Amino acid sequence: MQGKFITFEGIDGAGKSTHIGFVTDYLTTRGKQVVSSREPGGTPLGEKLRDLLLHEKMHLETEALLMFASRREHIAQVIAPNLADGKWVLSDRFTDASFAYQSGGRGLARDKMEALEAWVHHDLQPDLTLLFDVPLEVARQRLDATRTLDKFEREQADFFARCRAEYLRRAGQDPGRIVVVDSTRGIDEIQAELADILSRLL
Ligand code: ADP
Ligand code: TYD
Repeated sequence: MQGKFITFEGIDGAGKSTHIGFVTDYLTTRGKQVVSSREPGGTPLGEKLRDLLLHEKMHLETEALLMFASRREHIAQVIAPNLADGKWVLSDRFTDASFAYQSGGRGLARDKMEALEAWVHHDLQPDLTLLFDVPLEVARQRLDATRTLDKFEREQADFFARCRAEYLRRAGQDPGRIVVVDSTRGIDEIQAELADILSRLL
């Protein structure tokens, strides 16, 4: 039996990473085998591309192409084989992030992104995408409190406003797949909602 593919999305600081461990535990205790991964990255080559993507300045189309190059490798080596093996694959970001950051944030034409999506993953789509949504100021406060910022995290507020708007536009277009999770709430309250969402997928 084919496993399920769940992706975690949101602007930087929205809380995605915080909840991946919870989802892993929730599924594992219910007998699922879980593989947790991330983009850009998730494979040895993808992690090298991640290092370039997060730290080097580059043309926006180069950035989009490298995101999809990393994704192509991730699908071939991790996502597709594990799903075929009946495992559940969790990915910290996937193609919705490319729409949000490279199209929304940087302004790359959406039809180019759609062409890359069709080329690289055809009809493979996540079974569920959890979109952690917070106002920019909340995300910024959370980031400032915790870590050294990478190339994307140093962007200005209007960049993240465009990313967030693109995420919400995609959620509006595909409400059966993308669930918007109000991430301004406390972690316990969010995780109660996640348990409810996951119980419907099991
Ligand atoms: P992301 O992976 O989306 O960039 P993180 O999960 O790393 O975000 O969260 C960024 C910071 O915000 C972390 O310090 C985390 O502990 C904190 N955080 C996450 N979710 C919440 C929440 N619901 N309430 C308060 N703080 C949170
Ligand atoms: P992320 O793993 O969320 O960073 P962190 O470990 O610091 O939480 O993602 C790295 C960055 O890459 C993030 O700022 C968003 C960006 N990104 C894109 O711009 N396009 C993409 O397609 C993906 C997958 C990520």
